[in-house]
Amino acid sequence: MRITVVGGGYVGLTTGVCFAHLGNQVMVVEKIKEKVELLRAGRSPIYEPGLEELLQENIRQKRIIFTTNLREGIEFSEVIFICVGTPQRPDGSADLSQVEEVARETAKLMTSYKLLVEKSTVPINTHRLIKKTVQRYIRDPNITYDVASNPEFLREGSAIEDFLKPDRIVVGVESQRAKEIFEELYKDFDCPIIYTDPATAELIKHASNSFLAMKISFINMIADLCEKAGADVKLVADGMGYDKRIGRAFLNAGIGYGGSCFPKDVKAFIRIAQDYGLDFGLLREVEKINQERPIKFVEKIKGILWSLRDKKLAVWGLSFKPNTDDIREAPSIKIVDLLVREGAKLSLYDPKAVENFKVLFPEGKQVSYARDMYEALDGASALLILTEWDEFQRANLKRVKELMELPIIVDGRNIFETEHVKSLGFEYYPVGR
Ligand SMILES: NC(=O)c1ccc[n+]([C@@H]2O[C@H](COP(=O)([O-])OP(=O)(O)OC[C@H]3O[C@@H](n4cnc5c(N)ncnc54)[C@H](O)[C@@H]3O)[C@@H](O)[C@H]2O)c1
Repeated sequence: MRITVVGGGYVGLTTGVCFAHLGNQVMVVEKIKEKVELLRAGRSPIYEPGLEELLQENIRQKRIIFTTNLREGIEFSEVIFICVGTPQRPDGSADLSQVEEVARETAKLMTSYKLLVEKSTVPINTHRLIKKTVQRYIRDPNITYDVASNPEFLREGSAIEDFLKPDRIVVGVESQRAKEIFEELYKDFDCPIIYTDPATAELIKHASNSFLAMKISFINMIADLCEKAGADVKLVADGMGYDKRIGRAFLNAGIGYGGSCFPKDVKAFIRIAQDYGLDFGLLREVEKINQERPIKFVEKIKGILWSLRDKKLAVWGLSFKPNTDDIREAPSIKIVDLLVREGAKLSLYDPKAVENFKVLFPEGKQVSYARDMYEALDGASALLILTEWDEFQRANLKRVKELMELPIIVDGRNIFETEHVKSLGFEYYPVGR
């Protein structure tokens, strides 16, 4: 099939490259010229495991091309995947201006049937607004079109695997023609495909993300209780997780969720409910618990080290999760900011996210960046672990201890076994254990 993807970010690029990998002809429309130039040269503007290799392979096979020109994209195919950003507005609601722009401009350029697919995460009934916009701006009222919702559930760090082997695919359609296009598109996928109306599909995405965020905040509260009561949150999560009704996934205690989705989508869902006259107090609490995590973590460090002024602290991990360079809404941002305010001197290290982090925290008197995880430790009073990258789990802890001034590890992600680390002579402070 021929497919057009508008927006070449985490979702758009993964969608485009994976559809091409499955044998389709794909055109990705991305409005930032520099990104398009990079992509044409086979280089990914973002770090995502396996993405660049797959990109290069599909460029070689002539299955994917990139443009800044929406007109070319609209002429290229009848299926237009909208994968642009839906960032958060100051009041917590989703900013849909990028989606509106794509709908409006597509309408002006359409000369034949198009299926506009929302892949971006949008509030319930956004498909109606897209339809209304297309109706308003379409040049020829005889041209037919459909608007569908096909929300994306991929996780950064495992985006390709998630896209190609999803747990399920959700498609919200209103016409048989649109449904048949999706049936053809997804015919080789070996997973349940749920066809619904578009509003239900839009809601499924928000309900899923909010539910996962709720699991994280829930276990984080349990972690606090464990710390006070002398219990072990990892074992509590295991004990709960064997219950099939609960499941073990997303029950890892830590410094809270971040990223480009959960924080903004939970806020947006609270607003959506409000707009329909409902108070989603449960989610307000989920959000509150999450916002307190970085503050509690810094309080814990202060409790261990007393004054932080002029103390050197090593920080491992800046991205909001492992295997990505994405730092959007990462808890590390708030933690680093609070530690700088306390007067600490930070040596930061992350395998992929340093360049993004430097934009927010340029190198200076209090902040420096290390080239590897060991360099960050030189003379440090404590090591803080903020992201559970594999390479940290494999660290040579004897070497770690030799490099530090004090053998103290404050682990925000529970990556080590307490007894083992303690037996090596560390003071070890995990979460909820
Ligand atoms: N990142 C994730 O893990 C993830 C997962 C599921 C769903 N989502 C949702 O998918 C959407 C996209 O997220 P993302 O992380 O890929 O965002 P992103 O910011 O990485 O990418 C969006 C891209 O769209 C481009 N763009 C904006 N307007 C454009 C236009 N008019 N024409 C062409 N390109 C345009 C931007 O330049 C940018 O490159 C959001 O709604 C997000 O909530 C994200």
